[in-house]
Amino acid sequence: MTKQRVIMDVDTGSDDAVAIMAAILSPDIDLVGLTTVAGNKEINFTTDNTLRVVELLGADVPVYRGCEKAMVCTLLHNRHGDYTGATGVGTKLDAQGRKIEYHTDCLPLPAPTIREQPEHAVFYLVDTLMRSDGDIVLVPTGPLTNLAMAMRIQPKICQKIKAICFMGGGFKVFNATGASEFNIWADPEAAQIVVTSGVPVTMVPLDATHRANFTLDDARELRSWNTPAADLVATLVEERVAAYNAFQPQELPDSAPLHDALALAAVIDPQVLRDVRLMRVDVDISGGFADGQTICDTRAFPDRTPNVRVALDADRERFVTLIKSLLRSCPAR
Ligand code: RIB
Ligand code: CA
Repeated sequence: MTKQRVIMDVDTGSDDAVAIMAAILSPDIDLVGLTTVAGNKEINFTTDNTLRVVELLGADVPVYRGCEKAMVCTLLHNRHGDYTGATGVGTKLDAQGRKIEYHTDCLPLPAPTIREQPEHAVFYLVDTLMRSDGDIVLVPTGPLTNLAMAMRIQPKICQKIKAICFMGGGFKVFNATGASEFNIWADPEAAQIVVTSGVPVTMVPLDATHRANFTLDDARELRSWNTPAADLVATLVEERVAAYNAFQPQELPDSAPLHDALALAAVIDPQVLRDVRLMRVDVDISGGFADGQTICDTRAFPDRTPNVRVALDADRERFVTLIKSLLRSCPAR
């Protein structure tokens, strides 16, 4: 069977890291390139972290640095403003007064010795897609700035993109504000450009990712394999569970979502997503209370053409089994 060619656009990020590892390890995916964007962290960190992950797996995948700030967010005075990614370690006290650290700048891996490519991510996307046979699937797992920029520079790429499966948005679940998910909130105009591009789009929102959590038991199992890849994922899951337990306790005890890995997994096995519905989705770019909201029109007769397949649920067992099987294939120390 031919491998699916994929470009991932990432803001690495611990869940991005797991998604990248899964793509590299999957026999069904040819990971053509990785582009980075500011999001979880500033662009220096998201690029550096991406290189760390590629080097950990000894993969030969080029990394292209992309946009360091959102398209136009700075232009509206009442907007959240000039978001360029956070820096520093997030620290909060939990209900018991214990210090919980999360969102560290650097992944717990050695500094990379491999280097990023000289070309900017946006031009790489334009060139690669225009030269392709229309066979590349894009998996964005951060703010959609690079992709929207590429679409504006060369709109013809929209006919060249086979499909987009992105992590972002919320149907009823939100995290950045009461109405928006982080990746969309960070660059709402970019998200609106992408969902209205005419490319077949699948949205993997928080509603789905929160149904596919990894648990501390999963982390223990991964740890017992004693491989660098499984060890890293075990550590990331443990850190995420500590933060989620403290600030966003999940329905499944001692568990946390690995959002981005679900979007990548859906390219390998679409059945990891459940209750996928074609809807009209637009992004609120008003700068108001709902700025960055993915407005999913569930009416029987929406007045605009349905444009996005929205996953409302996920098959946790299937997803966790898939990720574990990919990590299992990675050689022991
Ligand atoms: O809201 C979750 C998303 O925001 C994930 O992609 C995470 O990595 C952050 O970018
Ligand atoms: Ca991400």
